[in-house]
Amino acid sequence: METVKVIINNKECVAEKGKFLIDIAKDNRIGIPHLCHHESLRGLNSCRLCIVEVTEGSRTRVVTSCTFPAMTDLIVQTNTDHIKKMRKVLMSLLVAETPDNVKIQKMAKAYGVADYSRYGMNKGNDCVMCGLCVKACEEVNCSAIATVNRGVTKKIATPYETASKDCVGCGSCSYVCPAECIKIEESGGIRKIWDKEFKLLKCGSCGKYYITEEQYNQLSNEHKVPQESLVCDCCKNDKYAKQMAKIFIK
Ligand code: SF4
Ligand code: SF4
Ligand code: FES
Repeated sequence: METVKVIINNKECVAEKGKFLIDIAKDNRIGIPHLCHHESLRGLNSCRLCIVEVTEGSRTRVVTSCTFPAMTDLIVQTNTDHIKKMRKVLMSLLVAETPDNVKIQKMAKAYGVADYSRYGMNKGNDCVMCGLCVKACEEVNCSAIATVNRGVTKKIATPYETASKDCVGCGSCSYVCPAECIKIEESGGIRKIWDKEFKLLKCGSCGKYYITEEQYNQLSNEHKVPQESLVCDCCKNDKYAKQMAKIFIK
């Protein structure tokens, strides 16, 4: 494996060549703020909160760390005064777009955007338009949601804002949403998301509801998994932990 030396905030980090700066920082316990990047999905370069200063030779520039691969040795600063000032402006714009979103308000406060009442132009909107939900839906081969409209009415929706035949109710879009604005309701073996109701199936091991019938059908078509052998993540982890214990604890 070819490696590069990346000095982040004076800490020397060795990383695989081509790895994105945000991931190198994370591996070395250095946090970089972000919204449109998720550990299972690549950054989409839409929020720009992950900006850092990169020095390569004699040149210093501002880049988004979620999309910048370390191809050579670099010096990176994640929190200079210049970066902090830029993040504060970006955060002010985000809070203006989502004046009622408590999570974004908390982030804004942390960046010194104290008075957001004057920014409240887009009442009722919670979404920062990061695009992660659309990407997650594509990754599960459904493409049931997309960006619709333009300007202040731009939003994420299903086609014609009605229950989509392509949505399998997996919840991946909600799971990755950094603004926590895609609601999932579950009760009595029914899951509701994007105005569509799904019947839930039970885990073959613990008996708890955990997967929709539509998602099971999709998995079963793709991987030929019999229903009784489908188990929830908790049971899978439990089984794995027991197997590991058998191997290592004699
Ligand atoms: S719940 Fe529906 S919209 Fe969301 S990721 Fe799954 S298939 Fe796509
Ligand atoms: S709904 Fe959530 S994940 Fe989707 S674009 Fe909006 S903030 Fe991002
Ligand atoms: S996390 Fe990098 S641009 Fe959004």
